[in-house]
Amino acid sequence: MNSDLFSVVKAEYIAMRLAAIVGLEVASVRMATVSNRDILLIKRFDRKWTKGGWTRQALVSALTLFVLDEMMARYASYEILAEIIRHRFIDPKKNLKELFSRLTFNILCGNTDDHARNHAAFWNGRDLGLTPAYDICPQVRAGNEASQAMLISGNNNLSRLENCLKSAHNFLLSGDEATAIIEEQKFLIEQNWDLLCREAQLSDVDKKYLWKRQFLNPYAMQKGLRQGKSFMVAADVVAAKSACLCVHRQSAKHKPCRH
Ligand SMILES: Nc1ncnc2c1ncn2[C@@H]1O[C@H](COP(=O)(O)OP(=O)(O)OP(=O)(O)O)[C@@H](O)[C@H]1O
Ligand SMILES: [Mg+2]
Repeated sequence: MNSDLFSVVKAEYIAMRLAAIVGLEVASVRMATVSNRDILLIKRFDRKWTKGGWTRQALVSALTLFVLDEMMARYASYEILAEIIRHRFIDPKKNLKELFSRLTFNILCGNTDDHARNHAAFWNGRDLGLTPAYDICPQVRAGNEASQAMLISGNNNLSRLENCLKSAHNFLLSGDEATAIIEEQKFLIEQNWDLLCREAQLSDVDKKYLWKRQFLNPYAMQKGLRQGKSFMVAADVVAAKSACLCVHRQSAKHKPCRH
């Protein structure tokens, strides 16, 4: 018997699709039904088709980069991962912005399971670079308060955007840049929520359950964030109406959705 409080597969599907819409590099997903049950199909990013057949792209988890074992995983932090990126990754600025955006998105969609094996980097023997994001799955939460599986900075892992903003310098982001990332994510989640719930055929009961609990929980919000600031430009609206219906980021060139 399924004892889940909500459809976990659909919630993960919606979170992964929203992650792509807000501009994160994320594994692509598709939902299917098998034997009357929803399943999530996730495209592997560590396999490449070549003339000689399938090849494997090596990757290391953040836990490995931290040189931590499972028992010490509680010491893993975004702050230290950002430091490793600054010192050892190719294109640190791009990877740092991506990691910061993943952190804030995890908070905005209630994915508190962002432990050090749910972050990874490709390794080609010389360079490191973040793999696409994966396993972004809104988690059950009891009360208002929530905490991330990895520390955000110092000893603080509370799922508040304020903590991310305070830590923006670790990701080489200014306060304004960090705020803009959060506002844009929040806006795009609000704009695309109904559409994605329909796409996932989420029940009304689950929709009510997840909204403002897992997705955009008020606990995450920080007073300083301006409410309802529009990031949408006319071109996005037209593209949204004519193509895939998703409202995409202002900054990214609109590409047709492949879902
Ligand atoms: N799209 C992908 N391509 C390649 N490898 C992947 C992909 N998604 C996940 N993985 C790898 O598979 C592992 C398990 O996947 P995932 O984290 O989604 O499973 P899980 O059962 O939800 O794990 P947990 O609950 O422990 O976080 C990941 O740690 C990662 O190494
Ligand atoms: Mg995982």
